[in-house]
Amino acid sequence: MASKVIKGGTVVTADLTFEADVLVEGGKITAVGPNLSGDEVLDAAGCYVMPGGIDPHTHMEMPFMGTYSSDDFESGTRAGLSGGTTMVVDFCLPAPGQSLLEAMQAWDNKSSKACADYSFHMAITWWGEQVWKEMETVVDRGITTFKHFMAYKGALMIDDDEMYSSFQRCADLGAMPLVHAENGDVVAQLQAKLMAEGNTGPEAHAYSRPPEVEGEAANRAIMIADMAGVPLYIVHVSCEQAHEAIRRARQKGMRIFGEPLIQHLVLDESEYQNADWDHAARRVMSPPFRSKLHQDGLWAGLAAGSLQVVATDHCAFTTEQKRYGVGDFTKIPNGTGGLEDRMPVLWTRGVNTGRLTMNEFVAVTSTNSAKILNMYPRKGAIREGSDADIVVWDPKRSKTITADKQQSAIDYNVFEGIEVTGLPRFTLTRGEVAVVESEMKAKPGHGEFVKRPPNPAPNRALSTWKEITAPRKVIRDPAKMPAGV
Ligand code: URP
Ligand code: ZN
Ligand code: ZN
Ligand code: ZN
Repeated sequence: MASKVIKGGTVVTADLTFEADVLVEGGKITAVGPNLSGDEVLDAAGCYVMPGGIDPHTHMEMPFMGTYSSDDFESGTRAGLSGGTTMVVDFCLPAPGQSLLEAMQAWDNKSSKACADYSFHMAITWWGEQVWKEMETVVDRGITTFKHFMAYKGALMIDDDEMYSSFQRCADLGAMPLVHAENGDVVAQLQAKLMAEGNTGPEAHAYSRPPEVEGEAANRAIMIADMAGVPLYIVHVSCEQAHEAIRRARQKGMRIFGEPLIQHLVLDESEYQNADWDHAARRVMSPPFRSKLHQDGLWAGLAAGSLQVVATDHCAFTTEQKRYGVGDFTKIPNGTGGLEDRMPVLWTRGVNTGRLTMNEFVAVTSTNSAKILNMYPRKGAIREGSDADIVVWDPKRSKTITADKQQSAIDYNVFEGIEVTGLPRFTLTRGEVAVVESEMKAKPGHGEFVKRPPNPAPNRALSTWKEITAPRKVIRDPAKMPAGV
């Protein structure tokens, strides 16, 4: 591969902003500094040169609610690249009762056509000795994060007993649990009540999942993780109640990470009141969109550091798929897209408004995920030796988001009509130019699996502390014991 030099731009990382050229050779960054030269020049004048985005939460071609999410690893990673995202971490989802290793094989097969690098989380959808055993093999294969659904009763949900067992296993293996935090028992009852009352439309999806069900579950998972002695990552944090639980735990020194989605940051609950059934159903996801008050809290959390990453939970269903739930909102496949739009929308609504600095933008779209998921500085960095996953970001380029021009396979876009300013001029995936402005050059099959080692620093620190503070037997002088003991 010929060398490339990204010339004349301003490098923006999670902690620094400076003028420099970036030399790329053999898929890696080999130099960052002034006056570099290479075989091919990519003009970055007027642009910011940033680590490519990492979306830590996607669902490609996932079997869910009687169907499959419609973006696969090819269209999904292509959508990501178009918007400056160069890596996704997808959820490998065994069916309840299925071997984790079998599910991993299925995900290996599906991901072979990815256009950009990817890694996996493994979902724990059931519990038993087989799962306990297989978790070790999964970790050995470089999948060191395990997702637990506290919702979707009767399908993916597991109970506290199983969650505590799995969290303890994660602690032993140096892995990290993730949770979808919603009280699935309460949701199931609210769903039944709403349906019985004739409340069958997509707006009832939001009524059945109030912020309290999320706050309660988030707090419960945090306490269970603390008792198991393991860090915890809470996905799609949408509301103040869950954020408050995370903030409180972090202030107490607990190793808790919180992930809001770009959808929850910019779209609100009024979407479900739309008179058009399709419009509302297309926005059905769990947790649902919330009020402005919750959104403000999430933005503040990103600036304050109580929330660390912005994801999409990209799980795209077509309008036809959403219509499985006409007459019964509980059958509308849950999920929304956003991979192509996460970076431009966050830049526009975050950096351009002063809610985030450029460095915070890099941190929450890339570097923090790389650190939390233990693949830094291979990913998430502009420095010598890192993978050349780079976005050359033109802060002046703008467009209006529309489904007509998107890469995703579905027929609508939840951000339709939003104008964004700040878009990629070039996106590079391990040194290959995959995107030149609106020209798509991504190659299916180019993406590689990224192995993530176990035992990152937070696990090591927490297990040291838990070992020091573990309950210990009091050794008593037998001579001084009461009679009969
Ligand atoms: O509604 C959602 N979030 N769908 C995707 C699956 C999940 O819960 O993450
Ligand atoms: Zn979820
Ligand atoms: Zn998800
Ligand atoms: Zn390639």
